[in-house]
Amino acid sequence: MAQTDQTSSQVAAAGTTSEEARQILDRLASRFSCRDFDHSPMDPDLLAAIVADGVQAPSSCNQQNWHFIIVTEPEAKRRATEIAGGNPHFETCSALIYLCFQKGWTHGNFSIVQSVAAACYHMMLSAHLRGYACIWNAGIGDHAALHDMLDLPSTFELQGALAIGTPRPTAPQMKAPRRPLEEVMSFGTFSRPDHAVYPAKPAKAYPYFEIGNASNPFAEWDPTRWSWDQIADFRGYSVWAKSPLAGVYVSRRQGDAQGVEHSLLPPTAHDVVEVMPWSGTSTVALDAALSVDAHLHVAELAQPNLDFIRERLKQEGVVRKALSFDLMAGGKLPYADQSMDLVVLPQVLEHVPDPEALLDDVKRILRPGGHVVLSSRNMSSAYGAHWRDVESVGQVPNQGPFTPIEASSLGDLVKARFEIEVACGIGREATGDAERLDGDDAETGRLFALRARRT
Ligand SMILES: Cc1cc2nc3c(=O)[nH]c(=O)nc-3n(C[C@H](O)[C@H](O)[C@H](O)COP(=O)(O)O)c2cc1C
Repeated sequence: MAQTDQTSSQVAAAGTTSEEARQILDRLASRFSCRDFDHSPMDPDLLAAIVADGVQAPSSCNQQNWHFIIVTEPEAKRRATEIAGGNPHFETCSALIYLCFQKGWTHGNFSIVQSVAAACYHMMLSAHLRGYACIWNAGIGDHAALHDMLDLPSTFELQGALAIGTPRPTAPQMKAPRRPLEEVMSFGTFSRPDHAVYPAKPAKAYPYFEIGNASNPFAEWDPTRWSWDQIADFRGYSVWAKSPLAGVYVSRRQGDAQGVEHSLLPPTAHDVVEVMPWSGTSTVALDAALSVDAHLHVAELAQPNLDFIRERLKQEGVVRKALSFDLMAGGKLPYADQSMDLVVLPQVLEHVPDPEALLDDVKRILRPGGHVVLSSRNMSSAYGAHWRDVESVGQVPNQGPFTPIEASSLGDLVKARFEIEVACGIGREATGDAERLDGDDAETGRLFALRARRT
């Protein structure tokens, strides 16, 4: 996924853009989202001025049927955070501007939604030029609770909230990567490279209102129907749905399960590879489990994942002398034969187009006597039924498509290449627990995890 160095303003500069316009465009392009504010207050007049800039945006039929509610009171921001259920920046920002519109007018092609969005982005640019940072949130939580909190009439709809404030000095200073222009733009007719068009279940039509987060009949969860490049592309951009902050993308369930996975690590290993940790949640835990002199290689499919993980580890305070970030383009591990002591695959094989080829590659890079520690979501478990009936009915998650693998089949794939030393299940229930399951129960857990040795 090569990044082009052709920014939109550089393209414009090649045309008729004056030096002054180019500087402004470059300044606008330097905006990036912030999700870590310093709690400082902002003058209400300044907030009103930002909204005044925003309403200079165009609106459908010039109806300006938008409405913006500015929330600054700490108690109200705390309540907004509670309703959103996991946006700490709602509490630490200076102000939340709720984006609303009046229902009943100019709905064709969502034109009222397009209008509010234009105003929101204009406010973001205004805030940016004035030295403040923002984050636009569609994820605001339960609309009924928000209508109540904001005293919003039922004839008005909520579309999102813009959080504005001053970043904490330690907040990540990184802009999410942009696709090369030629991937998202074509002259005359549609043209887009294959890796940037994602698989969907074949259908005659894809009616908009049939597609939602919880229910998407067209979602293609089977990674064998995706190419390595499509998966790389998808994961690389979507990891930036959040900022690379400490603690991002961590759930308690995952944390507890990771503890059990890492209890399978061999006592010593010097050259270690972690394969496809997506956002680095497992990398933080793995770093803590390894000896200080181990060399940890993080291998991911796309450069934007590596950039995210690098910054995230910095934010988490990880200081390891030997730490490398390596691109495994096309799903190939970029290491020499027999160069590693340990390869860790944290819930990876169910995400890849060709698990057997990846296991062969793992074997290739392991020294004789070296270990692989892996886990996978298990289809033959209570979770497997939950995945079939609930999860897989919805949208493919930002980590990419996956299909749980039956523990016994996974065991067979591993046995064909390695000597299994220990295997266990993790999590008796479909979701929630991280109980370790041994013996006859090992193949019934939500996750199936094992340590195997290259002979
Ligand atoms: C319509 C819209 C909704 C968004 N909703 C959320 C959200 O609910 N939570 C969040 O953390 N970021 C949200 N974002 C922010 C995007 O993740 C962010 O803009 C994107 O990753 C690009 O990063 P940048 O803003 O730093 O350029 C939203 C952005 C847009 C445009």
